[in-house]
Amino acid sequence: MSGEIPNNVDLDNDAQLKRALSTWHPRFLQWWNEVGPDGFDTSRVYLRTAISASSEGWANYAYVRMPEYRWGIFLAPQLQRKIGFGDHPELDPWQQVPGEYRKELRRIIVTQGDTEPASVEQQRHLGRTAPSLYDLRNLFQINVEEARHLWAMVYLLQRYFGRDGREEAEELLTRRSGHQDHPRLLNAFNAPIRDWVDLFCFAMFADRDGKYQLESLSESGFDPLSRTTRFMLTEEAFHMFVGESGIQRIVQRTADLMRESGRDDIHGLGGIELALLQKYINSWYSESLDLFGGEDSSNAAAYFAAGLKGRYREASASYKDHRALDSAYRLQKPDGTAEEIPMRRAMNAVLRDSYTQDCERGLARWNKELEKRAAGARLYLPAVCFNRKVGAFAGLACDPQGKLLSADEFAARRDEWLPTEQDRARVAELLKPVYEPGKIAGWIAPPARGVNNQPLDFEYVVFN
Ligand SMILES: [Fe+2]
Ligand SMILES: [Fe+2]
Repeated sequence: MSGEIPNNVDLDNDAQLKRALSTWHPRFLQWWNEVGPDGFDTSRVYLRTAISASSEGWANYAYVRMPEYRWGIFLAPQLQRKIGFGDHPELDPWQQVPGEYRKELRRIIVTQGDTEPASVEQQRHLGRTAPSLYDLRNLFQINVEEARHLWAMVYLLQRYFGRDGREEAEELLTRRSGHQDHPRLLNAFNAPIRDWVDLFCFAMFADRDGKYQLESLSESGFDPLSRTTRFMLTEEAFHMFVGESGIQRIVQRTADLMRESGRDDIHGLGGIELALLQKYINSWYSESLDLFGGEDSSNAAAYFAAGLKGRYREASASYKDHRALDSAYRLQKPDGTAEEIPMRRAMNAVLRDSYTQDCERGLARWNKELEKRAAGARLYLPAVCFNRKVGAFAGLACDPQGKLLSADEFAARRDEWLPTEQDRARVAELLKPVYEPGKIAGWIAPPARGVNNQPLDFEYVVFN
């Protein structure tokens, strides 16, 4: 079996893991066939497959039929390090699950693991409306890699958590995105990704939450978790690239149409209007902020104290105090007041602030495109209190600028700020698939370059 499963975890000599995988693997394939990309089973896709964790090994490109993709299990190399933060920063990282943190670790791994198959389910139907073969191929690359991330978390559960780990690994294949009785664990992973503007926003904002979660886990005191997430981050970077460059290409095309026509309402010319794009940004950014959890969180404090989950690049010099016992976080409220939260309890908010800075850099690049084309409008991130369902701002009515509103006012103006069914119908009108090599849909600019140095008119997907 391990011949089929590329790995650097000595699968051949791990009888227990082999046994666990031998029941899970067929169930995984069944899951992929049921809810993975719809309608492309026999297509050959130009995909990257990781066959080892070395720099040459993780990016092998070839035509692959997706159900035959070789999902692998990889750990990044072990580093010389100490846990470095929390209550016992001087200890060496644990190679086995410490009994006293077993419950917390399992919860962290299951929560991360659940998002991976969820996003594949959410994106299942997008292959029907891709703007080019290049984009179609990128979608499928993300899909197979999210499935590999599921493998990464299942490896930890089956290898380190015994029987309940095996049960959790089963459950990861049983929950379904958006299912009424058996949904995925986090809200943003139950929201449908209905069109390509959703997809690009999701990859920009929700995958970027993933980056920050993985970054903080990559310094975990539980060494196998640190090593597996460090390898996942190499793949995550591509997902965020698809999101950020996807929106950037929409902005380029939209701004070109605006300049040529001298007007903002360019839907009739086949473009996606900036105001509409802003609504999608409002929706996915606020949804993604919720993924960080409550600003004041006893779980976050416990994870930090235990050395399981730190801040963004905890080991770097940006933090003077790696115990975080004596400081506080000031949470600014929309009514002008502020709340002081003990630093350890505020770790979700601290991580989220790093995330927001990263998002702002993306917005600045998009706005550069508008500036270059002499467009007056700018895109922006909505205020932290806008449209929140989790944490200190949950259920507060405020506008994207952060101004408090009455519930009635918010309800009356909601459609100005978040996509409506009518908006979605307008986007859907534009989304006709373009599957001729080198051709691209009219609502998006071509990418700056192809995949793996291939030309833009390369046949990235060969249909059967
Ligand atoms: Fe992932
Ligand atoms: Fe991702």
